[in-house]
Amino acid sequence: MAVEELLVIDVEAEEPGSGLEFFVTGCSGFIGTHLVTRLLDSGHTVTGYDLVQPAYHHENFDFVQGDILDLERLRASVVKPDGIFHLAAQTKVPNSTRDPSYDFQVNARGTFNVLSCASGATFVYASTSTVYGTAVTPTPEGHVMRPVSFYGASKAAGELYCSAFNGIFGLPTTALRLYNVYGPGNAKGVMYDLIRKLQRDDSHLEILGTGLQKKDYVYIDDAIDAFLLAYDRGVPGEAYNIGSGSAITVNEIAKLICQMMDLHPDVRYTGGKSWEGDIESTQADISYFTSFGWRPRIDIESGMRQLYNWMQTQL
Ligand SMILES: NC(=O)c1ccc[n+]([C@@H]2O[C@H](COP(=O)([O-])OP(=O)(O)OC[C@H]3O[C@@H](n4cnc5c(N)ncnc54)[C@H](O)[C@@H]3O)[C@@H](O)[C@H]2O)c1
Repeated sequence: MAVEELLVIDVEAEEPGSGLEFFVTGCSGFIGTHLVTRLLDSGHTVTGYDLVQPAYHHENFDFVQGDILDLERLRASVVKPDGIFHLAAQTKVPNSTRDPSYDFQVNARGTFNVLSCASGATFVYASTSTVYGTAVTPTPEGHVMRPVSFYGASKAAGELYCSAFNGIFGLPTTALRLYNVYGPGNAKGVMYDLIRKLQRDDSHLEILGTGLQKKDYVYIDDAIDAFLLAYDRGVPGEAYNIGSGSAITVNEIAKLICQMMDLHPDVRYTGGKSWEGDIESTQADISYFTSFGWRPRIDIESGMRQLYNWMQTQL
């Protein structure tokens, strides 16, 4: 069965209530919104948990407004689902430098809290390539984790707690080490930043750093396929790289965006590092997860076009 057809229930043919029940933290964020939408469209029932209200409604969707640091509220909200997708997090590297304590609380303690409410549910954790720090590329999952940001450290701690809950309680956990996920709905990241700057002023383009930063970008729909596959076929206790398997520089991204928008701006560079804790070279070795049948299907030009079309609707 193709990965994109995984977990799809024929709503017309099946009895009502024959879908699965999922609990999704971070349901109002970029990836959470896409994941919940896919689960609901596939005929499942979802309870979402987030600090902020999501922008969507559905008859099979219940929303609980709550903090993953509020263990009592969390425990009352997780009612024996089949699967838990844990996405809620402090997600910005610069914020983790400004307030490492809060980052630690939400990402390490918060993940511990969600794990402690899981009671046997298949648990998929949204980890990050940032856990590796500065690594040999393409980076295999067996590479040492040596994070160089507080965000990388707190997300790695979450992963290690997944592993411990698997080891001690047999909780079926998997972690997805996501590279840069992009696409419609993501109002952050380098592609969004460059397109937005050009929408405001098409004669100049400021690039943070040197433009030579070379990273791996994976399209949102491919990342969502990976979440569903990890739930369905992931090996408990394992972590998987989720990237495109190739890397592109910021300069090359800027060139593609200018071609797409048919613009010829003057390009300026701020020089130095884009921000403290940034890793300037990432590229996933995706051979492990592709052996489960997953593969990234959307190339960067088509993905960027989807992001651009969405941004045009937001103007
Ligand atoms: N987007 C990427 O490129 C990327 C890359 C690597 C890893 N990830 C991981 O994927 C997950 C989702 O990322 P995203 O891009 O959708 O982020 P996002 O910032 O868009 O969404 C995160 C959501 O978590 C919620 N949240 C934050 N703190 C919370 C708390 N204490 N209690 C409850 N909810 C809380 C936020 O309100 C938000 O809706 C995160 O765990 C992130 O670390 C994302």
